[in-house]
Amino acid sequence: MSSITITRPDDWHLHLRDGEQLRAVLPHTAKQFARAIIMPNLKPPVVTVDRVLAYRARILAALPASLQSGFEPLMTLYLTDNTPPSEIIRAKESGVVQGVKLYPAGATTHSDAGVTDIAQCYATLEAMEQNNLPLLVHGEVTDPDVDVFDKEKVFIDRILAPLTQRFPDLRIVFEHVTTRDAVAFVKESSSHVAATITAHHLLLNRNAIFQGGIRPHHFCLPVLKREIHRQALLEAATGGDPKFFLGTDSAPHSQASKENACGCAGIFTAHAAIELYAAAFEQAGALDKLEAFASFHGADFYQLARNKDSITLNKESWVIPEQLEFAGEKLIPLFAGESLAWKMV
Ligand code: DOR
Ligand code: ZN
Repeated sequence: MSSITITRPDDWHLHLRDGEQLRAVLPHTAKQFARAIIMPNLKPPVVTVDRVLAYRARILAALPASLQSGFEPLMTLYLTDNTPPSEIIRAKESGVVQGVKLYPAGATTHSDAGVTDIAQCYATLEAMEQNNLPLLVHGEVTDPDVDVFDKEKVFIDRILAPLTQRFPDLRIVFEHVTTRDAVAFVKESSSHVAATITAHHLLLNRNAIFQGGIRPHHFCLPVLKREIHRQALLEAATGGDPKFFLGTDSAPHSQASKENACGCAGIFTAHAAIELYAAAFEQAGALDKLEAFASFHGADFYQLARNKDSITLNKESWVIPEQLEFAGEKLIPLFAGESLAWKMV
């Protein structure tokens, strides 16, 4: 096969940042995807519908003229212990909020305003359940006594499984799943529970963090896991199950903040998102399953129309740039300087 054409995909989990950084990274995504679910972990976080609307306007204003009509940001509200149920009603009525993001406080980048105790949010979650507004979950516990590689599994047991029992009609996206435990949980759950899978978790296992020395550009949260887990993710992504769909979690940080004694978590993949997924699917011998995963399952779960136009990937080797411009700093993309087999036309 030398070329594949698929319905234009959407990215169901993306970090765009703000200001100059937003302007630097947005074109990468807007060239490939029709829509993206935009994460609200800014500083300050996007905790009200007013902030959502203002952020959405900044994203639209940052789109280059050539991409102006072709890309739609789908917005999320950042859940806190104090988000009132009335804000859920406002979010629903705004028509632009597609989900509410749960960050356990302290779990990851700019999550300190997140939820300290899920019980504080029950009334708000009930409002989401009643108003059919999905909960998007960063599924890791923050308990310092839990091993970093077990944080996702323990989150399922302690928080997520009980939550699905308490709110059976709440639609939940388990974001960036990284373990076979998470895959099994999603499969066993009702049709209200789905998951995104990143390209980097499909392509890399935890050895990549320590390949010949410490590799800060392979550090993200949830952290890369063992090979058995990567295999389970690949099976889930390529298996045709509509509960699994594309979410890059592309998360830009400057080179200086990554190559640092306390480096930030996040892998930037927007420069070659669909090509990276194509590489993973090709490795699994399942390129024919890419379209449903990238372009159908997410839209169906979010109850949005599938895209009508298409993109084409050619089998054409190209080299990923060593670095990208990032608001006066440098951004190191995943697989900088390495070659990829597929290229979007
Ligand atoms: O690696 C990550 N980076 N994981 C997250 O959950 C947040 C993200 C970011 O915003 O940098
Ligand atoms: Zn994320």
